[in-house]
Amino acid sequence: MQNLLSPLSLKGLPLANRVVMAPMTRARSPQGIPDELTTTYYRQRASAGLLITEGVPVSEQGTGYLYTPGIYRGEQVSAWKAVTDNVHAEQGKIVAQLWHVGRVSHRSIQPNAQPPVSSVALAGGQAFAYDAQGNPGNIPASEPQALDESGITDIVDQFRVAARHAMQAGFDGVEIHAANGYLLEQFINPKLNKRDDRYGGQSLESRSRFTLEVVDAVCAEIGAEKVGIRLSPYNQIGDMPLFDDTPQTYLYLAEQLNQRDIAYIHLALTEKVHQTSLLSDFRERWHGVLILAGGISAE
Ligand SMILES: Cc1cc2nc3c(=O)[nH]c(=O)nc-3n(C[C@H](O)[C@H](O)[C@H](O)COP(=O)(O)O)c2cc1C
Repeated sequence: MQNLLSPLSLKGLPLANRVVMAPMTRARSPQGIPDELTTTYYRQRASAGLLITEGVPVSEQGTGYLYTPGIYRGEQVSAWKAVTDNVHAEQGKIVAQLWHVGRVSHRSIQPNAQPPVSSVALAGGQAFAYDAQGNPGNIPASEPQALDESGITDIVDQFRVAARHAMQAGFDGVEIHAANGYLLEQFINPKLNKRDDRYGGQSLESRSRFTLEVVDAVCAEIGAEKVGIRLSPYNQIGDMPLFDDTPQTYLYLAEQLNQRDIAYIHLALTEKVHQTSLLSDFRERWHGVLILAGGISAE
């Protein structure tokens, strides 16, 4: 408990304690713009050492759930500024979770009713979108189209611009969402990613390339000390299949992220992680701040 309530410097950002509020989608922002309720919600929780926002879509294409507040339009950026001002007024700290859902979306909420995008054209997961009658609801995601290299470059840019917007909105940093079956994990996972170009195939370096390109672009834009990332080894959310070289893949990412000296890595834990030595092996390769979520008790 003493440790939990002691302060921590997150690459120079002073946190009052080590309690971090996990990112939680609220789906309560009509028009995708944070509102007064959003501001109240985060202000009320500002005594945590660090708040991570709900997933914040980096583009309309990156959206898989209705009423989630993005950070790609000017009015969204200024609305987020009210949130960060209120959290800072309570001496809190807050980072924005930058989110591209990839295939976990539906044509009814995509630009021009296009299919969502992913590593390959294989559907999976549930979107919160409009059903055939035009009513909002949880419905199976649409079949995605596989991204070509220029589509991948566009999305790296969406993250870069979103990070710039997050700074304009007064956030203390960003968390890149590379967990829970969304776009970046759709590239990391070899059972799904059957591409044969430099972003896929059986080479774990190739499968990790998109994620690391996003990290590098965001670090170049706002500074590595303001960049965190969320990963979820052994994740099965969003119909993600388990795969054999999970430890090798995530230990490679740990080493690569360690070289980049980012602010933190945040692991969303599953039961399976605890049955392996992955956590201690990961800790040996990643020397920075490590945040854990999932089934955590005070001890
Ligand atoms: C309502 C709800 C919304 C969530 N939204 C997100 C999200 O936007 N981004 C994310 O990375 N994880 C999200 N999660 C996962 C949580 O951050 C966390 O990893 C998970 O709840 C496990 O922690 P717990 O066992 O303490 O609940 C969400 C979880 C819940 C319950």
